[in-house]
Amino acid sequence: MTRTAASNVLDRVLVLEMVRVTEAAAIAASRLIGRGDEKAADAAAVEAMRGALNELPLDGTVVIGEGERDEAPMLYIGERVGSAQGSGPRIDIALDPLEGTTITAKAGPNALAVLAIAENGCLLNAPDTYMEKLAVGPGYPEGTIDLTRPVSDNVRSIAKAKGVEPSEITACVLDRERHTGIIAELRALGCGVRLISDGDVAGVIAVADPDTGIDVYVGSGGAPEGVLAAAALRCVGGQLQGRLVFRNDDEVARARRWGIDDLERVYTLQDMAKGDCIFAATGVTDGSLLKGVHRRKGCVTTESIVMRASTGTIRRVSTEYHDLKHRGL
Ligand code: FBP
Repeated sequence: MTRTAASNVLDRVLVLEMVRVTEAAAIAASRLIGRGDEKAADAAAVEAMRGALNELPLDGTVVIGEGERDEAPMLYIGERVGSAQGSGPRIDIALDPLEGTTITAKAGPNALAVLAIAENGCLLNAPDTYMEKLAVGPGYPEGTIDLTRPVSDNVRSIAKAKGVEPSEITACVLDRERHTGIIAELRALGCGVRLISDGDVAGVIAVADPDTGIDVYVGSGGAPEGVLAAAALRCVGGQLQGRLVFRNDDEVARARRWGIDDLERVYTLQDMAKGDCIFAATGVTDGSLLKGVHRRKGCVTTESIVMRASTGTIRRVSTEYHDLKHRGL
């Protein structure tokens, strides 16, 4: 993978500081695992993430957040966070304090607290619409995937590059009615189809981990999640293409408000997250990428991953919290 120059703005100290932020959100959400209340789980994660972000010495702006200002009281798009407003490094932040609200409410797998940062202006200001996504892991020649081509053409191209039959390819797809056509196309080729109930940030990242057995991610999910997944793949390698999907005039208007004029544009990884960036995630529930938050007597444990595009460093961080009373855990 070609590395980008390390940014002077993204101090390396921030790498570990980011883990504190995703850990705080994950621990807060974990209290609501299996409680059937998506909103409460999300609210707990949002509040904790916001509190932790505001302790960081940076001048941050949320570019991918909980929604627009009139619909989200906290961590809305455009909110300034960080304790060094006007004096610290100017940083753009993409976040999802709880990626997988339904998963958490139902105690399913793969819910995450997620955060990505980059220099000001380097993350796509994606509107809160759907985005078609197509992703493969590292090692494939440029041009192996093409979102404008049918899924079956892409599978054949991936299989050729991998040196296997199309029937040996496994695709990860969100289990939604809108994907009936894609799933039929994949099954007609004899592919394995891993259907996930939610959580396509983890779904996209899975293509970069050979242990998951997933070769390609395909289908539409949230556009904000697309930008977060792009930041992650910038660090671990791979290719991702995304195209916004508009269901009505209001969504088109939202996109135009964010300066998007070409509604058909296919975005690459670099278009969604350019320059240096840092991505961090902490597991809320157990999943393929990370273990979730676990509570033992007198101890809470978390597992996180934090990685940086310019260096390609990937760190896995296991944390034990013992001072539970002091921290209100
Ligand atoms: P939330 O955490 O906001 O519930 O998102 C979960 C998720 O599955 C995302 O990972 C995905 O991008 C999106 O929802 C898909 O949207 P939909 O459920 O409308 O198909």
